[in-house]
Amino acid sequence: MKGPKTVFVCRECGNASPKWLGKCPECGMWNTYDEEQVVEKPQNNALNRGRNSATYSKAEKFSELELPKYMRTSTGMGELDRVLGGGLVDSSAVLLSGEPGIGKSTLLLQICSVLGKTRTVLYVSGEESKGQLKLRAERLGITGDSIYLLTECDVEAILSECDRIKPDVIIIDSVQTLSSMRFTSAPGSITQVRESAMSFINYGKTTGAAVFLVGHVNKEGGISGPKILEHMVDAVLYFEGERTNSYRIIRAIKNRFGSTNEIGVFEMGDKGLIEIPNPSEVVMAERPKNTSGSCAGCVMQGTRPIISEIQSLVAKSVYANGKRTSDGFDYNRMCLLIAVLEKRMGLKFYENDVYLNVAGGISLNEPSADLSIAMALISGITDKVIPDEVIAFGEIGLSGEVRAVSHIEYRVKEAVRLGFTKIVLPEKNLTKALKVPEGVELCGVSNIYQALVHMKPKSREAE
Ligand SMILES: Nc1ncnc2c1ncn2[C@@H]1O[C@H](COP(=O)(O)OP(=O)(O)OP(=O)(O)O)[C@@H](O)[C@H]1O
Ligand SMILES: [Mg+2]
Ligand SMILES: [Zn+2]
Repeated sequence: MKGPKTVFVCRECGNASPKWLGKCPECGMWNTYDEEQVVEKPQNNALNRGRNSATYSKAEKFSELELPKYMRTSTGMGELDRVLGGGLVDSSAVLLSGEPGIGKSTLLLQICSVLGKTRTVLYVSGEESKGQLKLRAERLGITGDSIYLLTECDVEAILSECDRIKPDVIIIDSVQTLSSMRFTSAPGSITQVRESAMSFINYGKTTGAAVFLVGHVNKEGGISGPKILEHMVDAVLYFEGERTNSYRIIRAIKNRFGSTNEIGVFEMGDKGLIEIPNPSEVVMAERPKNTSGSCAGCVMQGTRPIISEIQSLVAKSVYANGKRTSDGFDYNRMCLLIAVLEKRMGLKFYENDVYLNVAGGISLNEPSADLSIAMALISGITDKVIPDEVIAFGEIGLSGEVRAVSHIEYRVKEAVRLGFTKIVLPEKNLTKALKVPEGVELCGVSNIYQALVHMKPKSREAE
């Protein structure tokens, strides 16, 4: 007798094979194949049989299409709303992922409080007991009569509760714990994750409920489970932060209803996550005074300028090849800038170890950070100090020229707001339209040499 047909599926990329493989030929990962049962689609189901030319969808003219009205609801957290593109969209599916213990459950429980004021919210947990959740809700001060809690892993059981409660917002914590009786594979396996997620996404699309899915991350930091999960949902949010500090950043990797450049900044405390609407101030508050190797820079995160402090430490190397590390800035870009400074200015970085760090855990992934990084490096190697009132931004080209950057008004405005009085910026960006209050100086530079005048020898008595 023929048994049920099985197939081996790669957990990482979804590649299927009739026999088990140690290494996936598709994505190159080791030991990622799980055995799964093949579910055959009935050949003549109603969908196939019932279709004829009368039921086919018709193409319509773009000009005659009606504009959809996205109903957005505020989550009560401006920082999260911003990342979602202006609030939670009805019938949308959002995947929230992040490392264990980063605060995914905390964030979602916190937004229940505000959403629960106007909507019916169902929080489904497959990981924690009701007692644990109640305890956390007490600590976070969650109140509300239309917030429901369900501790269940079975998809069919959850959907049946959904039919009874009719939630407007469904939170699934987490998608890896779900399993459906329709499939024999273990919870967390690719079929279970994909099909369970699909059930809730479809439920949301048909009833108008917004669905949050919590996803675990794998060792490499990617969302564990099939990549396909990211394609199925409308938005993928990633929650990140370092164990050593309490700041948490949430960013959109994908968003069908808004930009993916925006970030939301939070701080984790015993009352849960607190929003930080002005991250620049937090980062700059801890800046040391009168030290060499430090320069302030500004990068855009979506529509928001964020000012950070760049620190460099340049120390004589004991090895033939100096060591280089970079934290918060692209390593190769740093090496390129060092090469430009060596070649164009004759600075001997090769004799030194170079450590670069961006304070506050925000990564500067924009060319406009070049000038501030270069200045921090020069200051580090020459031991000259960049005064606290100086901030710099501009892209650096291979011959040491400083190139114009975008969003100049936003950056200048943020620098002025934080009290910088000397703004070093690309000459090309200096236009008549650029206005600053009295006492603030705009210093246009067209190459890296011109930026040097804004450094001064280290004054020992000021220490
Ligand atoms: N009493 C407390 N005071 C302060 N912070 C706390 C307290 N309890 C928990 N935390 C913080 O909350 C974090 C756990 O948050 P949460 O359970 O929301 O994370 P998670 O992302 O859902 O994790 P998991 O992936 O394990 O479900 C802890 O790492 C800690 O930083
Ligand atoms: Mg959790
Ligand atoms: Zn694979």
